[in-house]
Amino acid sequence: MRVAVTTPTGNVGRHVVAMLVRAGVRPRVLLREPARLDPALRGQVDAFQVDQYDADAVVAATKGVDVLFWVDPPSGSPDPLADYASATSSVVRAVTDNHIGRVVFQSSVGAEKRHGAGEIDGLANTEVALDALGIDVTHLRCGYFFTNLELQLPALRAGLLQVNLPLDFPMAWVAPRDIAEVATTRLLSSEWSGRCVRAVHGPADLTWRQVAAILTAATCRQIDVEEISDDAMRGLLRQAGMADGQVEAVLAMSTGLREDFVPEQPRTVESTTPTALGGWVYDHLRRQIADLD
Ligand SMILES: NC(=O)c1ccc[n+]([C@@H]2O[C@H](COP(=O)([O-])OP(=O)(O)OC[C@H]3O[C@@H](n4cnc5c(N)ncnc54)[C@H](OP(=O)(O)O)[C@@H]3O)[C@@H](O)[C@H]2O)c1
Repeated sequence: MRVAVTTPTGNVGRHVVAMLVRAGVRPRVLLREPARLDPALRGQVDAFQVDQYDADAVVAATKGVDVLFWVDPPSGSPDPLADYASATSSVVRAVTDNHIGRVVFQSSVGAEKRHGAGEIDGLANTEVALDALGIDVTHLRCGYFFTNLELQLPALRAGLLQVNLPLDFPMAWVAPRDIAEVATTRLLSSEWSGRCVRAVHGPADLTWRQVAAILTAATCRQIDVEEISDDAMRGLLRQAGMADGQVEAVLAMSTGLREDFVPEQPRTVESTTPTALGGWVYDHLRRQIADLD
């Protein structure tokens, strides 16, 4: 079975590659810069230099592949949904031209809404496009990644997170490594077929108030959280250098899911994964915050 992995240096992809290698598989990895691969894994994979927005390159790199782990790369452009559409075209071309029969796709809670959730609409479009191909496909509807906190290091150091969600609004928070474990087991298993949706929810739904308490305990420094208005958040995102299109695509991921949204997949034993936020913060974030002192 030939397995290909996209974003092999990314938050989830890096763990997928390592898990496949531990399972005795030599994965094909698609990445822009092979030098960024973990040196310990370089001899264990076949690396193809690919920009995922270049459909021809993705098709060439996935010739002969049986199973594909596909991640739409995070967009840094002023038009994120155009980037997601471009990534969708690439995966559709690869699957069609190379007759790839099985795909595991990294999607998000909220993709079931299809419209009105900003960047998540881009993932919804990829889901719909993959569904139309009639292949075996698993959409992993993931919760909010712990690693998103790494994008907030200055605020964490200052001891104040600002969010445009009610502080008692619960969300599924998940470790990317746990997502990789679900992805890898799906990639290696032949026990499923057709269209499947699997939620990956982490161990617990957490409110921002609970997250602040966990951060405080795990870092031994007071970290508070404050609810700000959507307009204030717009201002912060613009100050951080985002173009208007990016600002709205980021903002709508909260505004689109905070009212009248009931996830299609409830939390179950299958969607609940083990890694707790407190231990992850202690291991991964505590020193990064302290290093900024
Ligand atoms: N963050 C969340 O809470 C969350 C939740 C659910 C779903 N998602 C979805 O998960 C995906 C991103 O996950 P993430 O934020 O954790 O990021 P990530 O997987 O860490 O993504 C960064 C990786 O993407 C690679 N990359 C970027 N642009 C590329 C391109 N044009 N071609 C090839 N590789 C490219 C980067 O490689 P280089 O080394 O070349 O830069 C890096 O390895 C998005 O589709 C997002 O919508 C995120």
